[in-house]
Order: sequence, then C-alpha cells, then structure tokens
Amino acid sequence: MIQISDLVKQYPQTSTPIIDKLYLEVADGTSVSIRGASGCGKSTLLSLMAGFEPADAGQIQIGTATLPFTSDKQGDAFRRNELGVIFQSYNLLDCLNVWDNIAFTARLKGVTDKAYLRRLMAMLDITQLQDKPADALSGGEQQRVAIARALAHRPAVVLADEPTGNLDEATSERVTQALYTVCAELHTTLVVVTHSNEVAEQASQPLWLRHGVLHPQP
Ligand SMILES: Nc1ncnc2c1ncn2[C@@H]1O[C@H](COP(=O)(O)OP(=O)(O)O)[C@@H](O)[C@H]1O
Ligand SMILES: [Mg+2]
Repeated sequence: MIQISDLVKQYPQTSTPIIDKLYLEVADGTSVSIRGASGCGKSTLLSLMAGFEPADAGQIQIGTATLPFTSDKQGDAFRRNELGVIFQSYNLLDCLNVWDNIAFTARLKGVTDKAYLRRLMAMLDITQLQDKPADALSGGEQQRVAIARALAHRPAVVLADEPTGNLDEATSERVTQALYTVCAELHTTLVVVTHSNEVAEQASQPLWLRHGVLHPQP
C-alpha cells in the first residue's frame, strides 16, 4: 500500500514547486505508471518515495514506513528490507556473476531463499545466465538481472525509473512484460516511470505527472 497526500517539493532554484500537493494511492500488488514531459519531476517523485531526499510538506506511507524518517538508519533499513529500485542504467556489479548480483540484496537483508531466487530467475528467463559475469550480458539481459536483483529480498514495493529507456523496442517489450508479470505474481506493488505508452498502459493506474500533480489523462 502506498498513500501519498499533499506532497510538496521545491528546489531553491525554481519559483514553483516541482511537486505541488500531490496525491497518490496504490493498493497492494497493483501497479502505477507515470508519464510526463522531461524535467516535470518524475525522478524527483520516486526519490521522495524512496526517502533519498526529504519533501517540504505532505505525508508518504509506503509499505510499513511513514516518511520522513527520523534517522538515516531508519531510511536505510526501509530501503534494505522493503524497497526494490530499478534504474535506467542497470548498476550491476560487473565483477560479480549473475547469481551473486541477484543474491546481493537478499544477503543484505539476511534472507537468501535459493528456491525463490531460482524461481525469480526462471520467471525472467535468465537461469541459463547465472554463472556469467554481469559485463558479458546484453542490455536486455542486464536489465532482467537488475529486475531480479530488485526483487530478490521480496520487497513490498518496487520503484522503476525508466527501466527500459536504454533498450531497443523488442527487448523493451519483453523486459517490461517480465517486470509486470513478476510483480503481479509476487504481489509486489510497482511504480514505473516511463516514456513508452506500451509500458505505461499495462499498469493498473496509468497516470501523468503535470504541474506537480498526477492526472489520469495526458
Ligand atoms: N537535486 C536537485 N537540485 C535542484 N534541482 C533539481 C534536483 N533534482 C532535480 N532538479 C530539477 O527538478 C526538475 C525535475 O527533475 P526530474 O525529477 O529529474 O525530472 P524528470 O525525471 O521528470 O525528467 C528539473 O528541472 C531538475 O533540474
Ligand atoms: Mg527522470
């Protein structure tokens, strides 16, 4: 469950808030896509939801957490235990093989359920890659590994910021399908920022960010 109300974020350089009394409610296990012009604040919104930076006003409830955090330690624990994050650049650890890249987040949380990780890899069709070093993979393969890594510790919520922005159309479609399918199957709440209408329309709630708030229409 994600519940956001009256969220405001303003950077000192601009005269109007980039996020301006934003409201969002996402039921457990459902998905939201966010489209909007470049620079409209999509990444900022995800960053606020992850607690990477503080909002100026408003409430965010995400998983069991209520933001703002009272300490860095609390924020770190939330991200380690309850959140999965996927970026446009995959940020895999090149020197590690696929299995170790995926198991990494689970180890941080102290839960390595090998049967679950194998199931995750099968769902994403990357089982055959498990012993390969990350830097030997194609872009589409790397992004599927990044998705598995984001889900390895069974987060309640996954935040994905333009996850297929670097991929060609066919690969992007396949990766996106995998992302939605895996999140639905694992009952993981998904928030995905994208420029692709195809990706966006698959979400339970396709939304547009404009003038600091989310709209159901472009
Ligand atoms: N840390 C920051 N300090 C100042 N301005 C920022 C910061 N992060 C983002 N911005 C500004 O906020 C606006 C929204 O950026 P962003 O959230 O990255 O947009 P989007 O992801 O929709 O393209 C941009 O104008 C950007 O320059
Ligand atoms: Mg962005």
